[in-house]
Amino acid sequence: MRDPYFFDDCDILKNKLGIKDSDKLEQAEVEFSCARIHDLAYSPLLGNYDLAHYCKMHKYIFSDLYEWAGQLRTVSMEKEEALLGYMSIDYAEPHDIEKQTDAILKKINSRNWLDMSLDEQAEKLAQDTADLWKIHCFREGNTRTTITFICQFADSHGMPIDRTLFEQNAIYTRNALVAACAIFKDGDFRKSEYLINIMKDGLKNGLNEENDTSNF
Ligand SMILES: Nc1ncnc2c1ncn2[C@@H]1O[C@H](COP(=O)(O)OP(=O)(O)OP(=O)(O)O)[C@@H](O)[C@H]1O
Ligand SMILES: [Mg+2]
Repeated sequence: MRDPYFFDDCDILKNKLGIKDSDKLEQAEVEFSCARIHDLAYSPLLGNYDLAHYCKMHKYIFSDLYEWAGQLRTVSMEKEEALLGYMSIDYAEPHDIEKQTDAILKKINSRNWLDMSLDEQAEKLAQDTADLWKIHCFREGNTRTTITFICQFADSHGMPIDRTLFEQNAIYTRNALVAACAIFKDGDFRKSEYLINIMKDGLKNGLNEENDTSNF
């Protein structure tokens, strides 16, 4: 079946800017989405960290580009990953997206984050981030939405986190997510340490920044 998110005459995502060149679309996507992501660091998007809030964040980041921003994916999806020998992560099927996202967000909201050591916080944040990302709720923009959502969640739950680390190490972050989600019907090849490490560094930097500013 032809991907309904593509233009009829080329394999490029239909977009509000009418761009039909993949490099140009990628460039426009980065420019528009980064501006929105930077806004969110100063003006958090209000919500209860539930599915509606997650969708609202995707909408905020991508509505300059896509009509379907904020709407759950309606098609199955595969993406070749060099890291997996060009296999795809086993993303959720569309009919499972809502149920799986509700379950993982319920878990994130019910943890006693402030009773944990920084190491435990990093481990659980990495696990929850990977579980949320593996669903891939949206046709595009899942990494940016998940990382921004989790960073805002951490900041607003007493765990200040350095968001710039994820943006400046976007390729590392995506590869760390792929490595943490490499579980398939025929085997579990997951490695979570890369994602845990960057979460730990983000939390450590966040605490240092907080201490620096409180000295003024
Ligand atoms: N946290 C972030 N902040 C700003 N830009 C990011 C961030 N993470 C990734 N990017 C940029 O977004 C672009 C697209 O990245 P990528 O395709 O890996 O993620 P995505 O589109 O958000 O998720 P996916 O393709 O898995 O749905 C890259 O140019 C990357 O540098
Ligand atoms: Mg992408």
